Amino acid sequence: MSKLRSVKGMNDVLPEDAARWHRLESTFRELVGRYGFGEVRTPLVEPTDLFVRSIGEATDIVEKEMYTFEDKGEKSLTLRPEGTASAARAWIQHSVGGKHPVSKWFYLGPMYRRERPAKGRYRQFWQAGCEIYGDPGPYVDAELIDFVVRYLRALGIQDIEVLVNSLGAGGTRDRYRDALLEYLRPHASELSEDSQRRLERNPLRVLDSKAPQDQAIAENAPDILDHLDEESREHFETLKSALDDLGTPYRVEPRLVRGLDYYTRTLFEVRGRGGDLGANAALCGGGRYDNMIAELGGPATPAIGFAIGLDRLLLVMAETEPKPTLDGFLVVQAKELRGKALAIAQTLRDAGARVDADLRGGSMKSQFRRADKSSAPFALILGEREAAEGTVQVKELATGEQRELPIDQVAAAIIRD
Ligand code: HAM
Repeated sequence: MSKLRSVKGMNDVLPEDAARWHRLESTFRELVGRYGFGEVRTPLVEPTDLFVRSIGEATDIVEKEMYTFEDKGEKSLTLRPEGTASAARAWIQHSVGGKHPVSKWFYLGPMYRRERPAKGRYRQFWQAGCEIYGDPGPYVDAELIDFVVRYLRALGIQDIEVLVNSLGAGGTRDRYRDALLEYLRPHASELSEDSQRRLERNPLRVLDSKAPQDQAIAENAPDILDHLDEESREHFETLKSALDDLGTPYRVEPRLVRGLDYYTRTLFEVRGRGGDLGANAALCGGGRYDNMIAELGGPATPAIGFAIGLDRLLLVMAETEPKPTLDGFLVVQAKELRGKALAIAQTLRDAGARVDADLRGGSMKSQFRRADKSSAPFALILGEREAAEGTVQVKELATGEQRELPIDQVAAAIIRD
C-alpha cells in the first residue's frame, strides 16, 4: 500500500517547530496592536471571480497557480492565493467604508498557489498582511513600509533591501503601456512563450517575468518614473522624503512592477540578502491599489497594503532559543498513587503551572528518563509519605538540588516568567 503523505509543497509544523512560528506571529500581533490594526479573518475559499477580477486574468497566479474547483458542479471556487482580494471583498460586503472613513486591518493565515515547490516557495504558505482603506497617502505608505522594516528588525532580520517604485495613476499606465509596447514589439520573437502571449494584453507582466530571456530585454525597457503624471510624481517624492524622515533605508527600483494587476502608484518589496534563502528573495510585497475597491463594486476608495511571507522569514531568522514548554514533570513512586498524582497535576495547572506526568505506571527510572527528556526544569516526586503529608519533593534536574514543599507552594516555586 502506498504511504500517505502530505500534498507536495504543503508542509506540517510539528510541536518542536511551533515555537519559532509563534514568535513570528506574536511579534506581528504585538506590533500591529501598537498601530491600531484590527484582525480580519476571511474564508480560505472564495468565488473564483474575485481573484480573476482583482489580481488580473493575464497574471501567473490566475493563469497557472490557482487551486480552482467546481462546488458540486454549480459554482467555481478557489483556495485563496493571497489575502488582499478577500479582505477587500469583506470590506465592501460589510459596508465598512460607511462606518469608518479609514480602516486598518491585518490578517495572518495560509495562502495557496500551485507553484513549483522549492526552498522558500511552497503551495501552502503563510502570510501576515496589513491593509489600510480610505487614506490616499503618501504618509501612510511610508508608515507601512517602515512598519515592515521594524517588524523584520524585531525578529533580528537586518540584512534586507527595501525597493520602492511608483506605477502612477490615471493616464500613467496607458502612456507607459504604449511606450513599453513600442519598445517590446521589435523583441517579441525573443520573448518567452508566456510573455509573447501576454505582450499585447498586459505588457507590464514582461517586466516581472522570471524567464532569463525576458529579464535581459526588460533591462533596457523605458523607465516608468519618466512617465508619471504630475500628481503621482509629487506623491512619490513625498513618500521618499517621509521615508527619509523616518530613517527607513530604501532604493528606488523603476523595474519593480510586481506580479499582480491591481497596483497603482506606490509599490514596494522587501528582499532578504542572506540566510538559507539566498540573495534577493522577496520577504514582503505590497503597494497601493486605489482602483480595486471600485472595480469590485464598492465605493471608490484608496487602499494600500502588504503581505509578508512567514515561511521565508523562518529561513532567514536567527535561531530562537527553545523555551521550555513545561515547568514540572511529576514522578510517581507507586502505581497506586497515580490518581493522587493526577489530582496534584490538576491543582498545579489551576495555579498556572505547566505540568505533565507519566501515567503509564512505569518504573521510577523510566519516569525520570521522561522527565529528563521533557523540557521541564523540575521533577516533582510523589511518594507514600509525601502523599500522606500533602507535599512533593521538588528536584531541580540541572543541579540535582531537592527540597520538600507543601502542594500549595509548588506552583510559585516552579513557574518562571
Ligand atoms: P505577493 O508578492 O504575491 O503579494 O506575496 C507576498 C509575499 O508572500 C512574498 O513576498 C513572499 O514572501 C510570500 N510568498 C508568495 N508566494 C509564496 C510561495 N509560493 N511560497 C512561500 N512564500 C510565498 C501579495 O500576496 C499581495 N497580496 C500583497 C499585498 C497586500 N499588496 C497589497 N496588499
